[in-house]
Amino acid sequence: MKFSSVLSTVALLFVSKSLAITWEEADAKAREWCSDLTNEEKIALITGRENMTGVCVGSIDPIERKGFKGLCLQDGPAGVRFAKGTATSWQASINTAATFDRTLLRKVGEAQGNEFYQRGINVALAPSMGIQRAPAAGRIFESYGEDPFYVGQCGLEVLKGIQSQGVIANAKHYIANDQENNRGASTSNVPEQALWEVYMEPFYRTVVEGEAGTVMASYNAINGTYSTQNKRLLTDYLKGKLGFKGFVMSDWWAIFDVEKSFGNGTDMNMPGGKYWGPDYVGDSFWGEHIQECIDNGVFPQERLDDAVLRIIRTLYKLDQMDDYPEVNLYVDTNTKENAALNRKVGADSNVLLKNADNILPIKKSKKVKKIAVIGKDSMPPTLCEDMKCANGTLPLGWGSGTTDFKYVVDPLSAITKRAKKSKISVVSYGEDDAKKAAKVAKKADVAIVFVQADSGEEYITVEGNAGDRLNLDLWHGGNELIEAVAAVNKNTIVVIHAPGPVNVPFLDKVKGIIFAGLPGQETGNAITDVLFGDVNPSGHLPYTWAPREDYPTDVKYEPEYPDGGEKMTVYDYNEGLFVGYRWFDKKEIEPTFAFGYGLSYTTFEFSDLEATMEDDGLYVSLTVTNTGKVAGAAVPMIFLSFPESVKDYPIRLFKGFDKVMLKAGESKETTIFIDAHGLSYFDVEKMEYVRPKDGEFTVYAGSNARDLPLNVKVLANGDEIDSDNDNSDEEINEDIEDVEDSSDDEDEKDLKKRFYKLY
Ligand SMILES: *[C@@H]1O[C@H](CO)[C@@H](O)[C@H](O)[C@H]1NC(C)=O
Ligand SMILES: *[C@@H]1O[C@H](CO)[C@@H](O)[C@H](O)[C@H]1NC(C)=O
Ligand SMILES: *[C@@H]1O[C@H](CO)[C@@H](O)[C@H](O)[C@H]1NC(C)=O
Ligand SMILES: *[C@@H]1O[C@H](CO)[C@@H](O)[C@H](O)[C@H]1NC(C)=O
Repeated sequence: MKFSSVLSTVALLFVSKSLAITWEEADAKAREWCSDLTNEEKIALITGRENMTGVCVGSIDPIERKGFKGLCLQDGPAGVRFAKGTATSWQASINTAATFDRTLLRKVGEAQGNEFYQRGINVALAPSMGIQRAPAAGRIFESYGEDPFYVGQCGLEVLKGIQSQGVIANAKHYIANDQENNRGASTSNVPEQALWEVYMEPFYRTVVEGEAGTVMASYNAINGTYSTQNKRLLTDYLKGKLGFKGFVMSDWWAIFDVEKSFGNGTDMNMPGGKYWGPDYVGDSFWGEHIQECIDNGVFPQERLDDAVLRIIRTLYKLDQMDDYPEVNLYVDTNTKENAALNRKVGADSNVLLKNADNILPIKKSKKVKKIAVIGKDSMPPTLCEDMKCANGTLPLGWGSGTTDFKYVVDPLSAITKRAKKSKISVVSYGEDDAKKAAKVAKKADVAIVFVQADSGEEYITVEGNAGDRLNLDLWHGGNELIEAVAAVNKNTIVVIHAPGPVNVPFLDKVKGIIFAGLPGQETGNAITDVLFGDVNPSGHLPYTWAPREDYPTDVKYEPEYPDGGEKMTVYDYNEGLFVGYRWFDKKEIEPTFAFGYGLSYTTFEFSDLEATMEDDGLYVSLTVTNTGKVAGAAVPMIFLSFPESVKDYPIRLFKGFDKVMLKAGESKETTIFIDAHGLSYFDVEKMEYVRPKDGEFTVYAGSNARDLPLNVKVLANGDEIDSDNDNSDEEINEDIEDVEDSSDDEDEKDLKKRFYKLY
């Protein structure tokens, strides 16, 4: 009962919901199933069978006696890895985030989940939910930006989408794995409140609300203790305070001590062998050493029973114990529907950063008859293993978060085809030599320059960048290329393919800039849709864009990295709660582009902001109007200031958003719900989330962190502001009337809440 079509997966959401069983029911079934397992079988269930030559990046052996087929785990956030072009090569997660569209986020999760399902893959190693605290960090494109609330919302939608298909999702990388340099021998020292409010937030959402089946313990240490060995984080916080019911697996080869890792809460060793390579098949730090530890009383039998129960319970919860498809990595799921969804997300994630004189969209006119397409980034790419070369247009970064491409639609081909339809002629130069580029650009009415910067995962070094970027400059002389073109063509438009912010010394010299991110296989079509106005851009930056030195944090480069024995590379998270825009607000630094920034071919106005505090949360409503001449999608953003009693707190926090499609001149009202958790801070004395009941919140609404024209105050306890104490009788009467009259109201609120939860 699974469908590959994107549209039918929406219906499937409800089908699988009604089939889903509770954790308690899954637990009962799992206990029964596990009751006759031998310790040898139990150990095989928790120790991966190291075999990178097999089709799965991680696997667990079958238990034939029990009819158990074993497990297949596979990367990653951009779709199924190693599928030799049979699977869709999706956009990077940071692009999905840039749409600020819950419906699209969920659909991407569903479509990806379905591709894993059809291959019989049990666990999809996604979503990745690191926080973009340093713009040069190599894997920022695999996650959803700098804001904990937003990363949590994106992770939740994608995770629910994946799990709706019966595939177990993997909330990763737990926790504070926010840079690549020396990640395996580094410690992220995170103050307690920031740990909970910033780094735990996405895990809170995906585990507590999303019922994530698995969590991946990261490579790095936290306060000096490796994540895979960290009792506080795994056993006390994740399984204890958050009530996580699934199982914790290690990141690949992140385990090197049986006692500390298994004893402290890691449930599954991935991929199982001590080190990379076929020599270590069956040679694990776990395996028979688990039994030795039990025999010697290092940890009790119950620890093993619990780890196994967690794994089998999760399989029952996701309905995988009977009738799951056989593993076959090469089922063709690179369908037209998936390509169309990738193209739509690619187009909707384009962030229009500059559009002077309405240079965009491109339309044939007396002044525009010929366009020049410039730069190697407009050309078909070389598809190297794990995308470890940046040679041609850039559809994804490098590392385990990539896929094998079947094809890449390059920008030049897509633009040429579309321009023909508008009877615009195209000249092109597909290299990066500035002088030659200028010669070509000179002849055209408009010049579009494609440039790039790349990053990826630590195990591959590309052009000197060992995962994390060495600097925020464009690669391959991009700045020189743009300057040379802009010097001869006053209608220059720049398209940037990159994992995150780049330096923009050319900002004042060009008319248009589109930040296209890393859009996946349909990249050329996605940018063409926006360049020619077939799609009105509605992407927004899920991070602050500024010169590197303005951020509170950075990655580290050391001439020689410590090996993790006595010494580790130390990343102090001294900025605490003040990541991203919160730092820029506090320090009053003007960013180049604020969190949430993104222009449209039309204009929007926000009005009628109202906020009502209720027991279950805060209801914020506002009217959004399209004041321009073409249809477009607005993203109203809600920020909150907390009551003064909450000390040392960010000035404003991003807490809600919607995406509203509007025809020219049209107005719509939208209600955005902020739940009780979103109204809480983490009290480190009490070690719990606390929702302030005194003082007032200020609710801000607008289009980005630095454009919040509306605000309204609301009392934390839900009372009306300026209520007249003399008329207390009347007030009580009103209250009673409200209560009597509230049934319709309640229904409506319930609906809104579900609307918020489901989309
Ligand atoms: C690895 O897996 C492949 C495919 O399942 C199998 O053919 C091969 O024998 C395995 N290699 C080892 C060393 O186990
Ligand atoms: C972890 O380290 C940070 C920074 O040094 C410190 O503020 C925090 O209290 C430490 N947390 C624990 C639980 O040791
Ligand atoms: C947990 O890890 C610590 C070191 O981080 C180690 O001393 C301790 O033995 C481990 N606990 C168990 C139960 O193995
Ligand atoms: C880069 O791409 C060009 C085609 O544009 C190709 O000729 C060349 O071999 C590629 N270089 C590498 C290192 O793949």
